[in-house]
Amino acid sequence: MTKTIGILTAGGDSPGLNAAIRGVGKAALGTYNMHLVGFRDGFRGLLQDRTISLSGGELSGILTVGGTILGTSRDKPSSMPIGGQQMDMRNAMAEVYHKHHLDVLVCLGGGGTAKNAYSLIENGLNVITLPKTIDNDVAMTDVTFGFDTALGIATEAIDRLHSTAHSHHRIIVVEIMGHNAGWLALGAGVSGGADVILIPEIPYDVEIVAEAIRRRSRRGSRFSIVAVSEGALSINDAQLQAEAREVIEAADDKKERKKAKARLAEIQTGASNTLQLSQQLEGLTGLESRVTILGHLQRGGTPSAADRLLATRLGTACARFIHEGTYGVMVAARGDGAEAVPLEKVIGKRKVVPLDHPWIHSARDIQVCLGDRLE
Ligand code: F6P
Repeated sequence: MTKTIGILTAGGDSPGLNAAIRGVGKAALGTYNMHLVGFRDGFRGLLQDRTISLSGGELSGILTVGGTILGTSRDKPSSMPIGGQQMDMRNAMAEVYHKHHLDVLVCLGGGGTAKNAYSLIENGLNVITLPKTIDNDVAMTDVTFGFDTALGIATEAIDRLHSTAHSHHRIIVVEIMGHNAGWLALGAGVSGGADVILIPEIPYDVEIVAEAIRRRSRRGSRFSIVAVSEGALSINDAQLQAEAREVIEAADDKKERKKAKARLAEIQTGASNTLQLSQQLEGLTGLESRVTILGHLQRGGTPSAADRLLATRLGTACARFIHEGTYGVMVAARGDGAEAVPLEKVIGKRKVVPLDHPWIHSARDIQVCLGDRLE
């Protein structure tokens, strides 16, 4: 019997989404003779039944295009902002699913999307997810598509920052995305030759960072590149954050929880933290410092060859799994192939950089300061 697939992209966009849509679509239509319906703007488009036909020429010419032709949003099926309230819209989404006689809904997204897709299983929907995100923080997959492209962009940025930092004898603090995982900052920092790399997994001591920079100056290198992940925190802030989180989790008392939430909100993260770090380093080293925030540049534009290949590999494997009737899984990258991993093994986990990861050893071996000690 001919199967009908619904497909949507959710969460932040990432390079390779269109390559994946094309991979799923071309294999589904051409190899397995299925039908395909696209939903616009993530789960919101599913709720509102806003569709896009993918059976004509829409899948052609999109392999190299950045973003997602379907559009995306960060809406959660179980808690959608509707008329000023958070509403559980899963039943309404199930109705649209059945209206289109879908056999399965393919959701392309990160860890949050996997969780949202899984929540629809309780409403009787078949789902299957593909792991995309520039953060590379999805559990149970070797890698996510989008990461390699962002890694290339951030590395090129660090390359370019070197010459200007060198000319002006400055520190340049470059902020790299990655949410609460350090993959992107660590990967780009090592491949771009950053002198200091700060990631969320290793809380930093600003005095140690300053001493690493002063030591470089004493040895004749009067400039330094500091690659800082947007989620990186000082030892003190990491401690405060952990304490506040513990209180929030344990507190029965609403007031106590509110107070801990306020303390959590006071901890500077992202751009304001990066700016503060730059100012502190200027004060501690006597060198001028500048900040570059790469931001959404890292998510834009054409996917790298590696991401096109990965997205196509996972997309076509997804169509094959659907053909075989394998649902409730994430199509994970495993070695050169793909593996169907049950979604319950994926959700609620975040893949962060293990402290004994080879990239960390390599960074330390080439005397990159990771903020916790002098190498
Ligand atoms: O998850 C991808 C990501 O780019 C993170 O690195 C970043 O923290 C976040 O999305 C930014 O989200 P938004 O585009 O919604 O500002």
